[in-house]
Amino acid sequence: MIRYMQKQDVDTVARIEQKVQSHPWTIGQFNDSVESYQSTVIEHQGEVVGFCILQPVVDEANLLLMAIDPKMQGQGLGFRLLEASIELLKNNPVQIFLEVRESNLAAIGLYEKAGFHQIDIRRNYYPKPDGSKENAVIMVKSCSDDFSKLFKM
Ligand SMILES: CC(C)(COP(=O)(O)OP(=O)(O)OC[C@H]1O[C@@H](n2cnc3c(N)ncnc32)[C@H](O)[C@@H]1OP(=O)(O)O)[C@@H](O)C(=O)NCCC(=O)NCCS
Repeated sequence: MIRYMQKQDVDTVARIEQKVQSHPWTIGQFNDSVESYQSTVIEHQGEVVGFCILQPVVDEANLLLMAIDPKMQGQGLGFRLLEASIELLKNNPVQIFLEVRESNLAAIGLYEKAGFHQIDIRRNYYPKPDGSKENAVIMVKSCSDDFSKLFKM
């Protein structure tokens, strides 16, 4: 089941984030995201196992963060959550942007499968645990592509 994130989900969501990120968001950031952004979670057998945070901005949106609990990865949940979260966006965005670590091949693969493509590189953008920096890949999904596909059906 996919539903909007609530304040009572934040501890679980923050724990998932801590398992997968070297520089995780804080509880405070997740609490703010419930109020300020479109935040969704995916449940498996009644347990929250992933989340997705999208920021609508006028006629666009930014994908700020998403993760699936490591024990549940590789089963299609990330793709389902991303597709459903984009569907739920109320501002009917023309484009959705995101930034992702260049080394994060799983996320890049997921985003490509969901229709995103690379448009730029931001050099030395992300901090690494060893103190060095890593490039960000900037990706975009054009939502008008989805509409044109609908019209072709
Ligand atoms: C990125 C992430 C959300 C993917 O979630 P997931 O549920 O494991 O992904 P899915 O099973 O839905 O896979 C969807 C597609 O992603 C790609 N993918 C997923 N895992 C992959 C891997 N380990 N290597 C390469 N591609 C991968 C594939 O294209 C896959 O499609 P396919 O199964 O048809 O080949 C998950 O790996 C994760 O939480 N990672 C840590 C947090 C993170 O990096 N978040 C994104 C940056 S903010």
